[in-house]
Amino acid sequence: MTRYQDLNKTLLQSPRTWLVTGCAGFIGSNLLETLLGLDQRVVGLDNFATGHQHNLDEVQRTVTPEQWARFRFIEGDIRNLADCQAACEGVDHVLHQAALGSVPRSLNDPITTNEVNISGFLNMLVAARDAKAKSFVYAASSSTYGDHPGLPKVEDRIGKPLSPYAVTKYVNELYADVFARSYGFASVGLRYFNVFGKRQDPEGAYAAVIPKWVAAMIRGEDVGINGDGETSRDFCFVGNAVQANLLASLAQGESVNQVYNVAVSGRTTLNDLYKHLVNILGANGVTYAKDAQYRDFRAGDVRHSQADIGKAERLLGYAPSHTILQGLEEAMPWYIRFLR
Ligand SMILES: NC(=O)c1ccc[n+]([C@@H]2O[C@H](COP(=O)([O-])OP(=O)(O)OC[C@H]3O[C@@H](n4cnc5c(N)ncnc54)[C@H](O)[C@@H]3O)[C@@H](O)[C@H]2O)c1
Repeated sequence: MTRYQDLNKTLLQSPRTWLVTGCAGFIGSNLLETLLGLDQRVVGLDNFATGHQHNLDEVQRTVTPEQWARFRFIEGDIRNLADCQAACEGVDHVLHQAALGSVPRSLNDPITTNEVNISGFLNMLVAARDAKAKSFVYAASSSTYGDHPGLPKVEDRIGKPLSPYAVTKYVNELYADVFARSYGFASVGLRYFNVFGKRQDPEGAYAAVIPKWVAAMIRGEDVGINGDGETSRDFCFVGNAVQANLLASLAQGESVNQVYNVAVSGRTTLNDLYKHLVNILGANGVTYAKDAQYRDFRAGDVRHSQADIGKAERLLGYAPSHTILQGLEEAMPWYIRFLR
């Protein structure tokens, strides 16, 4: 039995109370679905800045009425300390996902990104500390590697941030560390690398590359590739990110007060991603025959990204369940249903 299977058993036998911030968003709603499926009690906090009621409705459809009854939703804003305090009351484990994602968004509006991702994060740390939460796991980011040229990325070797978004995610790690030293409040940061899967929003100017391209392909529109297409990423299926969150929440001893890469240690170029998507759509009955449209490189983007996941494997027992191809195959029918 893997550490994660073992953990699932433990949770089913002794349910706990969880807070998922950003529960109406992509990763948050996947965490919510898994936790409710394990008969846990879940409090959710979201202000619908980028999340959607339809994500919550979909989770409701996938769990039983008894499981759904264990969910309590608070519509609120992490920039408001009182909302964070209300959400943290009586909670055992905090999974803090709420933030404004997207490098371009942060370049266009660094002030709002800073308010949500730094002030909101600090509010959540204070509220969770005061509520004596047993664990605090937060969404960090691979953008923290910035301009460090090393590959694969190892947790303790970072460069200078390349965007306001990257600054905010690095500041989260600094605050988390200071809260451990100053107040003995332990936490774990998960540096996600390009997570993808069902319920990742395909719409809007700040959509991530996989849902954006899948939507364009299904609609027969042009697909634009930033740069020469040889930019590479370690695309990580959302099920792997969910696994890392649950393992990190129950971590003990030297495994806490750490940051971990969450990825699969693969490296896929945008040109290869494009081919994979065309092939998997084809296997699902959707033909896309247009050539990609190449355009300028995008400001703030890191050229190559690939994680060393050895630390998470060793200290958390993390074992990714899906490669990029397995993840794309699993997610594609959802996108086709959602977008048609
Ligand atoms: N998706 C990725 O590839 C990726 C990579 C690295 C880090 N992350 C981080 O993971 C987390 C989740 O990202 P996601 O991809 O699910 O994005 P998402 O936009 O789908 O989810 C974020 C959620 O937070 C909510 N939110 C935003 N501001 C809020 C506020 N002020 N108060 C309360 N709720 C608020 C949004 O409404 C949304 O539901 C974020 O912290 C993001 O920075 C994601």
